[in-house]
Amino acid sequence: MNTNSSGGQPSPTTAAQGGRRRLILPHPIAVLGREHPELERELLAQLGPDCVFMMGDNPLLPKMPDRPQLLDFFRLRFTEFTRNHLLQSARLALRSGCDEKIVLGCLLHDIANGALIRTDHGYWGAQLIEPYVSEEISWAVRNHQALRFFPDESVGYGYPEAYREYFGPEYVPSAYIRQAYDEARNHRWYMSARLITLNDAYAFDPDVAVDPEEFTDVIGRHFRQPAEGLGFDNSPVAHMWRTMIWPNNLL
Ligand SMILES: [Fe+2]
Ligand SMILES: [Fe+2]
Repeated sequence: MNTNSSGGQPSPTTAAQGGRRRLILPHPIAVLGREHPELERELLAQLGPDCVFMMGDNPLLPKMPDRPQLLDFFRLRFTEFTRNHLLQSARLALRSGCDEKIVLGCLLHDIANGALIRTDHGYWGAQLIEPYVSEEISWAVRNHQALRFFPDESVGYGYPEAYREYFGPEYVPSAYIRQAYDEARNHRWYMSARLITLNDAYAFDPDVAVDPEEFTDVIGRHFRQPAEGLGFDNSPVAHMWRTMIWPNNLL
């Protein structure tokens, strides 16, 4: 059951669990600038013997395995839009003859958008994968964010038409993005990040479905899956994977 009491604003959701209502308080980052300020107080006022905050498995989400692997997040957590985009992008890279490390970079490049956060997604995505991939792959994922905004005619990459629509034709990237681009342009791994942007631009076809299993071998060779499962290996980013497993926990 969804409760929309805020006139089109993101609403708290409730899910029945063990005979109780479980309230979900949206994350601050998702509601800043658009939420009425009393939401936390409103939800606190609803608490009682039959109503608590969501903690643990949300019955409205598919249950994750105890030791989740990368593709479990693709199948059970990522939004369909991002899952398809990542898989299509990786397939394009594979079919255009890219090195496997680039294929993996394409498969992971927007991973932050899958179930975590879109803002500064290249940086979040690189951080998520850093313990598990080569330094070059995480560097490329981080820097695709800035490179997306800047053409490179030498490889046939132009400013994305979609961005004119998303941001308006007058949009100019922030100074930190310009600075990141300038630094990446002269880096020895520049072309790895550039190849991600090349395979990114055309990977939004709603009629193409790609089976994640297609990339099992590439993942096996280039992504160090922890035996304990992503989220439970005590890596510096384990909490980020746990946040995607239990995205509705209050704390
Ligand atoms: Fe991206
Ligand atoms: Fe992308």
